[in-house]
Amino acid sequence: MKLAEFEVWARAEVDAVEGALQAWVPADAPAGLGQAMRYGVLDGGKRVRPLLVLAASQAVHGERDAAMRAACAVELIHAYSLVHDDMPCMDNDVLRRGKPTVHVQFGEAQAMLAGDAMQALAFEVLTPDRGMAPVLQARLCSLLARSAGHAGMAGGQAIDLASIGQPLGEHALRDMHHRKTGALLQASVLMGAACGDATAAQWAALADYGDALGLAFQVVDDILDVTQASSTLGKTAGKDLDNNKPTYVTVLGLDAARRHANELRDKAQAALARSGLRDAAWLSLLADKVVDRES
Ligand code: IPE
Ligand code: IPE
Ligand code: MG
Ligand code: MG
Ligand code: MG
Repeated sequence: MKLAEFEVWARAEVDAVEGALQAWVPADAPAGLGQAMRYGVLDGGKRVRPLLVLAASQAVHGERDAAMRAACAVELIHAYSLVHDDMPCMDNDVLRRGKPTVHVQFGEAQAMLAGDAMQALAFEVLTPDRGMAPVLQARLCSLLARSAGHAGMAGGQAIDLASIGQPLGEHALRDMHHRKTGALLQASVLMGAACGDATAAQWAALADYGDALGLAFQVVDDILDVTQASSTLGKTAGKDLDNNKPTYVTVLGLDAARRHANELRDKAQAALARSGLRDAAWLSLLADKVVDRES
């Protein structure tokens, strides 16, 4: 029953995010840049990060308009990271979200610029001229910038590229995954929480929840890379092995990686329970989804 309700909620929220992104990502940016941006972010992806923002905001009775802006901003950063991640100088992939990658479709220079422009747009979306308290704008920008930049996603991606062919230990692998993927997922939860009134204890518990879920997300991504077909994933399966990347599967083996993903789910659920938030059912089901997903 709860699961059916969750699915209805998630579908409606994904539609709302799609509508907001449709409105915010410009079609008329110069020289075809708008088409490349829209191609990279609209109509695709699971929208896990926006759902985390909106579920966390709901759990603390946050402001809806701010949360929707935060949800779209995080997705813009995520989509930009995918556009760049797929480029020949990084993972060199031709398939993303079931379509040719942005650089295949529009050329490398346009893909680079589309990513750049999506990153900037994320912060534009968070800083409207009116209707949102400046303090909240600053808080959301700070959370997003810190998770996307040198200490988070971009830093993690740098480690990822520097680790090709390297036998990473589990500690180094965890650090890389925390940065390249975990940071933005944790920021999604905290940006949602920032839209309402979380107590310090609730904030700490949600940070722990986001931390465990964020790492679980990339552990599962590593697993799916070897267990699923490209047609299910909408991206090229087996890419990590092809690119000689150290992953949770190469470092721990498939069974231990699966066990670890489940331990991280338990950790996330325990943190959520500790938060004492009564309206956290969607966050709990999202943690299950992240670990049990097939794409
Ligand atoms: C893929 O993220 C890249 C990682 C950070 C692991 P998602 O699995 O969320 O990709 P989409 O958004 O659904 O396409
Ligand atoms: C991506 O990790 C992390 C990002 C910051 C985009 P991967 O390189 O494993 O993501 P996929 O498998 O291509 O989606
Ligand atoms: Mg990569
Ligand atoms: Mg990749
Ligand atoms: Mg991957």
